[in-house]
Amino acid sequence: MALQQLPPTYKAIHLATRPKDHITPTTFTTQTHPTPSPSSLQPGQVLYQPHYLSLDPAMRGWLNDVRSYIPPVQIGAVMRGVGVGTILASNSPLFKEGDVVQAPSGWRELAVLKDRDVERISLTPGARMTDYIGVLGMPGLTAYFGLLEVGRVKAGDFVVVSGAAGATGSVVGQIAKVKGARVLGIAGSEEKCRWLVEELGFDAALNYKEKDFAKKFRGATKGLIDVFFDNVGGEVLDLALGRAKEFARFVMCGGISQYNTKNAQGPKNYLMIVTMRIRMEGFVVFDYAKDYAKAQKELAQWLSEGKIKRQETIMKGGIEKMPEALQALYAGANTGKLMVEVTPPSKQLQAKL
Ligand SMILES: NC(=O)c1ccc[n+]([C@@H]2O[C@H](COP(=O)([O-])OP(=O)(O)OC[C@H]3O[C@@H](n4cnc5c(N)ncnc54)[C@H](OP(=O)(O)O)[C@@H]3O)[C@@H](O)[C@H]2O)c1
Repeated sequence: MALQQLPPTYKAIHLATRPKDHITPTTFTTQTHPTPSPSSLQPGQVLYQPHYLSLDPAMRGWLNDVRSYIPPVQIGAVMRGVGVGTILASNSPLFKEGDVVQAPSGWRELAVLKDRDVERISLTPGARMTDYIGVLGMPGLTAYFGLLEVGRVKAGDFVVVSGAAGATGSVVGQIAKVKGARVLGIAGSEEKCRWLVEELGFDAALNYKEKDFAKKFRGATKGLIDVFFDNVGGEVLDLALGRAKEFARFVMCGGISQYNTKNAQGPKNYLMIVTMRIRMEGFVVFDYAKDYAKAQKELAQWLSEGKIKRQETIMKGGIEKMPEALQALYAGANTGKLMVEVTPPSKQLQAKL
């Protein structure tokens, strides 16, 4: 939408109450704010419009008032979030109107941001704008550093990844294949499992919702696991511990099965860490920020060569769709990266991308 067509107000989604377990209709509230005028921009500021906002499992943790790797979102504040969009006006030498960028705008239709918080997107061959919140953004970088730096995957390894059909897990399995490993993916439906094997080239995939999953898991991991990349935690982590090879690496990326509960379930099988001398290591992708550019370049190369494929699940309905989309993420509504289309890019921009 061009600057002159902007309505006098815009909407933002604020945190209203802290959920006890699952997000409810009272967790978030929509508020209306006056549209900032370009002439009000201070030096170093830009006016930004997100086209697509990312949904991330970690968002549930940001709603808890606890010590973590990032401060909680405060009651009354606009919900934190990252997206891709366009600069509508700029009072910064670094950006001009029409630049396509990635930005931590939060859940709002418009944002005034500092130029240093905004990152220009230079589309590489085969890439699209939305890849910068997916395979070339945080999920792809998480897969890259988690598997290569924490998991230290090597050719011939047997890698098991949970949450395999999501934004991060789907890239983990494909990087493992690039590196010459054998890969088993764990996901929540037959359709997702088929996609992992038939489209992405995983060696095998299992649906953790099947009744005989534990039996099938034991059958599929007879050779024992070298690297377990955990996005899910809970029972799947316990099963994986039971099938770890000596000196296995357990990459603790996330535990989505435990995010919506007050009493997270720890691993019962933890003594396997001792007997199998497992290295179980947590990490946060931000720790690798200085190496993002190098990783992005390699991921972009794999994407352009077709060694990595991606899928997006885009929910439409504007900014007010965000709370519902976040709940849908925990229900497994997505294959690949989940995002909401907040304001579609203009026809001219779509033609350029
Ligand atoms: N450490 C880091 O720096 C870092 C950075 C980014 C992400 N992460 C973590 O990486 C994981 C994946 O994140 P993402 O952004 O790529 O999300 P995602 O995998 O695209 O989406 C989440 C997926 O989790 C699965 N899921 C939901 N509830 C589940 C449950 N109870 N048990 C098993 N699976 C469940 C769903 O797929 P199914 O249909 O398969 O259930 C859903 O599609 C999360 O744990 C996230 O917190 C960590």
